[in-house]
Amino acid sequence: MRIIHSQADYQNIYKESIENPERFWGEVAGEFVWHRTWDKVMDWDFHKPEAAWFLGAKLNITENILDRHLPQRENQVALIWEPNNPAEEPRKITYGELKRQVCRVGNLLRKKGIRKGDRVCIYMPMVPELVYAILGCARIGAVHSVVFAGFSAGSLIDRITDCGCKMVLTADGAFRGDKKIELKSIVDEALIQCPTVEQVVVFERTGSKSSMKQGRDTWWQDEIQGMDDHCSPEIMDAEDLLFILYTSGSTGKPKGMVHTCGGYMVYTNYTFRTVFQYKEGQVFWCTADIGWITGHSYIIYGPLSAGATSVLFEGIPSYPDFGRFWQVIERHRVNIFYTAPTAIRSLEQAPLSFVQRHDLSSLQVLGTVGEPINEEAWHWYDKNIGKGECPIVDTWWQTETGGVMISPIAGVTPLKPTYATLPLPGVQPALMDEHGKEIKGAGEGRLALKYPWPAMARTIYGNHKRFRETYFSTFPGKYFTGDGCRRDGEGYYRITGRVDDIIIVSGHNLGTAEIESSIDEHSAVCESAVVGFPHDIKGQGVYAFVICYNPPEEEDKLRSEIRDLVSKIIGPIAKPDKIQFVPGLPKTRSGKIMRRILRKVAEGDTSNLGDVTTLLDPNVVEVIKQGAIK
Ligand code: WT7
Repeated sequence: MRIIHSQADYQNIYKESIENPERFWGEVAGEFVWHRTWDKVMDWDFHKPEAAWFLGAKLNITENILDRHLPQRENQVALIWEPNNPAEEPRKITYGELKRQVCRVGNLLRKKGIRKGDRVCIYMPMVPELVYAILGCARIGAVHSVVFAGFSAGSLIDRITDCGCKMVLTADGAFRGDKKIELKSIVDEALIQCPTVEQVVVFERTGSKSSMKQGRDTWWQDEIQGMDDHCSPEIMDAEDLLFILYTSGSTGKPKGMVHTCGGYMVYTNYTFRTVFQYKEGQVFWCTADIGWITGHSYIIYGPLSAGATSVLFEGIPSYPDFGRFWQVIERHRVNIFYTAPTAIRSLEQAPLSFVQRHDLSSLQVLGTVGEPINEEAWHWYDKNIGKGECPIVDTWWQTETGGVMISPIAGVTPLKPTYATLPLPGVQPALMDEHGKEIKGAGEGRLALKYPWPAMARTIYGNHKRFRETYFSTFPGKYFTGDGCRRDGEGYYRITGRVDDIIIVSGHNLGTAEIESSIDEHSAVCESAVVGFPHDIKGQGVYAFVICYNPPEEEDKLRSEIRDLVSKIIGPIAKPDKIQFVPGLPKTRSGKIMRRILRKVAEGDTSNLGDVTTLLDPNVVEVIKQGAIK
């Protein structure tokens, strides 16, 4: 692989990667173990849209993570597990042990009748067994669909049903700070409505009482005991499904993004090594939950395929106190630390003594992901965590892209705070104006990608039409990201945020339509509209405008009922921060809600609402302005 060590290397390699992508990616892919190499590096047509990588190649991704590194890494730590409660012992899992555990899960799945291509839902806390479950699926060619353990029964039903999972791997409960979440009872509630699920395996984590359904539910610990340490890897086609991961859509239903084996492996490995400039022996910590793409790509697949030591953290940044992250860095001598702006902003609010009491001298590289980072948070992170000596990589990417797309390369790219800077090799961004024309040079517009990359999602599970409409119809022949973006005179990119109906709350991608439909389930509610507003810690908060059938008598009571409802249907992360009861919504004559106006009201900036004369009822705007919640 061509390693980038300097800005000159970057420029040369970038140029080559664009001039001859097939040669570039073929060379990167050459380092892996394939049972058969490709006939062709890539094939694509964004008008269909279609993209395929390493056509005809055969592999198993877990062989590239496990077998390839053995016996050399037999005793090297693959995973450092740091539990929720610092009083509990951390666990270190070597590559040798990881392989045995993954094989046991693979054998268990096979024993239960799971075969290549079957979908398995994984709804588990951040414990090593979650990693074994994921890689166990990959070992035997089953498709994993991980659902974030903060989602409620309603969200679980949608995700299980959409891809027809045959099995659920879960736990009795999850620890989260000083709380316990009863995962198994959420699964039980969901499965009443999920006829495709035949079997449930439950890992005992919290000791919570679980009712086990005869013939369906068994305990992980009992099942795994008798399993063999060896499990033959299923030989997969490079384009076979590796996993499905759901992300919010701007219309209601979440989208099951499909990722495939070959391209995803090559890209997550390459970007991990390049962006963070990973060096043999370093300890890497990505704080994301494995329920999101960041955890898939940069806790598991990227670092482990590179033979790195990856930290898996079960807890939250504020428990038992605001020094928790810094304590973990000190305890495990973390070298590369990758987190989200929302976490940085919340830790920035705490007294600096929480940082100062820990030795952070092991740190060499810092990263952020998930949303635009504000200037103040960037400088706080740089000064107090990096002590002015660690490059910060602000990595822009998406569930759909599978891996980092635009980002500084640590220690190589000159930094510019709040800028994701330059595209990685092979990545070809295009800045588009409102007429769909590509902007050359500096400017501001919408971000598209005009060339495929190995880890791009291939489709939305079961709905290729929606895939085409969502990503390839705005700018024909190009992939539309949904993000607004600015490019400066040096070609540096700054992502300015979503331009569609997606809001990013604490780094979590939420569709406004999905929140609206859960608010509308309240019997008193006639209609609602949700927008984001700037929030000091969460980045964006959720602001809901709600029309009731009758003016509510007790507004606060109704507010808390609506919040509980959203929490129950989607999950606590989607709860509205502000709920304003309104007599009507600003709609165009064709019935479309003018969210632009609602956004302004939510932002507290009503000085210039733009043209409202095209509205069906312009008067409603005045009423909404008057009742705005500060
Ligand atoms: C959206 C994708 C990538 C994994 C986590 C989120 C926003 C992501 C950045 C960044 C500005 C960012 C974009 C993107 N985003 N990284 N460095 N700077 N914005 O994955 O849930 O699919 O969300 O997150 O708006 O479209 P996701």
